[in-house]
Amino acid sequence: MADYRIAPSILAANFARLGEEVDNVIASGADIVHFDVMDNHYVPNLTLGPLVCDALRSHGVSAPIDVHLMVKPVDRIIPDFAKAGASYITFHPEASDHVDRSLGLIRECGCKSGLVFNPATPLSYLDYVTDKVDMILLMSVNPGFGGQSFIAATLDKLREAKKIIDRSGYDIRLEVDGGVKVDNIAEIAAAGADTFVSGSGIFAYGDEADPNRYDSIVAKMRDELAQANSI
Ligand code: DX5
Ligand code: ZN
Repeated sequence: MADYRIAPSILAANFARLGEEVDNVIASGADIVHFDVMDNHYVPNLTLGPLVCDALRSHGVSAPIDVHLMVKPVDRIIPDFAKAGASYITFHPEASDHVDRSLGLIRECGCKSGLVFNPATPLSYLDYVTDKVDMILLMSVNPGFGGQSFIAATLDKLREAKKIIDRSGYDIRLEVDGGVKVDNIAEIAAAGADTFVSGSGIFAYGDEADPNRYDSIVAKMRDELAQANSI
């Protein structure tokens, strides 16, 4: 069984009850907290900063926090997120003037590092840095907003990225972000992804008054992944 990880994107959670939302979704069996950082500059939206990451840790969240930086520049904010308890820090190569340096800085700060590829960004940014990358994140929507539809061309790109990882011999996770739902997660896994970000696919599910509402949606995703694994 592949080591699949489900990473709910808290962008779609109820921000007024964020600690509780994260507790509930992790209790439902999700693995990683996906934390979208937008700056109204690199992307046209504004979301969460290190203070919120730190607040989740103080609240008692112990699951890995996967900080997806959609900010430009990236280096200044990396140590702040490391101090705030980030586990992974990923960034878009177009947003850094020195990709190798930014990757090195993330590891120096004690976090796992990753590069994020927009739908039109070529994987060639990986050519000389696979030794410095713990995670490759393929965007299956254009970054900035939740609730968009999965771009089908990502499936071929996942297959390509998986080959690059296998050829490199390094232990690199392959994450996908945008439009991931119960009904397409198996196909996405079959294309090579092992880490699945889902925002509206999880947080928009069920009745808000029910604290256990994420149990069934996360279980359904796991069932789909188990089937993908047997293909
Ligand atoms: C988009 C963000 C995603 C977003 C995904 O820029 O990086 O993480 O929350 O949301 P859904 O799963 O609703 O497409
Ligand atoms: Zn994201």
